[in-house]
Amino acid sequence: MSSKICLTGIKPTGMPHLGNYMGAIKPAIETANKGEFKGYYFIADYHSLITIHNGDQLRSDIREVAAAWLASGLDPKKVVLYKQSDIPEILELNWIINCFTAKGLMNRAHAYKAAVQTNTENGKDEDQGVNLGLFTYPILMAADILHINSDIVPVGEDQLQHIEIARDIASSFNHAYKKDFFKLPKAIVAEGENKLLPGLDGRKMSKSYNNHIPLLLPEKKLQKTINKIVTDSTGPEEPKDPNNSLIFDMYKFFSSNEEQEAFAKRFREGIGWGHAKAELFNVVNREVAPIRAEYDKLLADPGYIDTVLKDGADAVREVSSRQLAEIKKLIGVS
Ligand code: ADP
Ligand code: TRP
Repeated sequence: MSSKICLTGIKPTGMPHLGNYMGAIKPAIETANKGEFKGYYFIADYHSLITIHNGDQLRSDIREVAAAWLASGLDPKKVVLYKQSDIPEILELNWIINCFTAKGLMNRAHAYKAAVQTNTENGKDEDQGVNLGLFTYPILMAADILHINSDIVPVGEDQLQHIEIARDIASSFNHAYKKDFFKLPKAIVAEGENKLLPGLDGRKMSKSYNNHIPLLLPEKKLQKTINKIVTDSTGPEEPKDPNNSLIFDMYKFFSSNEEQEAFAKRFREGIGWGHAKAELFNVVNREVAPIRAEYDKLLADPGYIDTVLKDGADAVREVSSRQLAEIKKLIGVS
């Protein structure tokens, strides 16, 4: 097993959707299974606290997301799965690195800037509804990454700025103590031509667009949701261009090259939209059916999830407590 660390954070914002699965969950599990890196994957529950101020909701969101990752094939024997809030070392480090972070760096962070812009456009005070958790979000994220000196961090493109900020903070710290204490973490973004799964309306599938298909719908509901995809009025027998079809675009994510060629041929020969949707349902369901079965089992036994997360926290604290002790010596508080 390699000693290089691959770390990623998962925000518990309820049930993941098919885009999250294809773009984040599946590739992260594949990376972990390759064994090139030691994987540390965690549920970023304190990041969710920025927006979720309801205990029951956050608790069930944490369970759902943990169950979704485990059901998708994350093997807790290969990856340390833990909850951010179970690691007090992260919060200690969070304060320490606050003192190495220029405020201007936070002023320029995308999420904060976007909130200010929306407020300004709506004629409101620029900081209305902005809590300090949102403002300092990137610092907590840097602490998540640096507390175990991660080497690589797989993230979506929207998170690249946060990794840059983590590198800036690590460099300021290293510079102050004239020591390469923190490694500079490297972001890994999934590549490939079709990396963003489109949603029901053709835009990127996203919770914020409300165009998403949850990963774990019961079969009938999945079928119903897929049937909602908007199509044009071309008649059933008329030839259709697969390269100009949302159904085909989505199909590509869940099928082999041969299946895609056969499906494209049926488009050109004329396939009714109803049949095309049924084919899309078949390939999506083939992918998610085993995950659904496992997910239902896991949620019926929340004690198992709690044990996995607790064992994960114990394992990670072994590393992070050692690292924090060194940091405290270095900065002079112990
Ligand atoms: P959302 O846009 O629904 O809020 P997030 O921003 O929370 O999703 O995304 C979490 C992870 O899932 C990110 O790593 C991102 O790269 C991935 N992801 C989100 N939407 C898609 C998509 N449509 N296609 C591929 N990957 C996606
Ligand atoms: N901000 C990330 C997201 O929204 C989640 C996250 C929190 C994270 N801490 C992290 C990702 C550390 C990678 C490393 O998706």
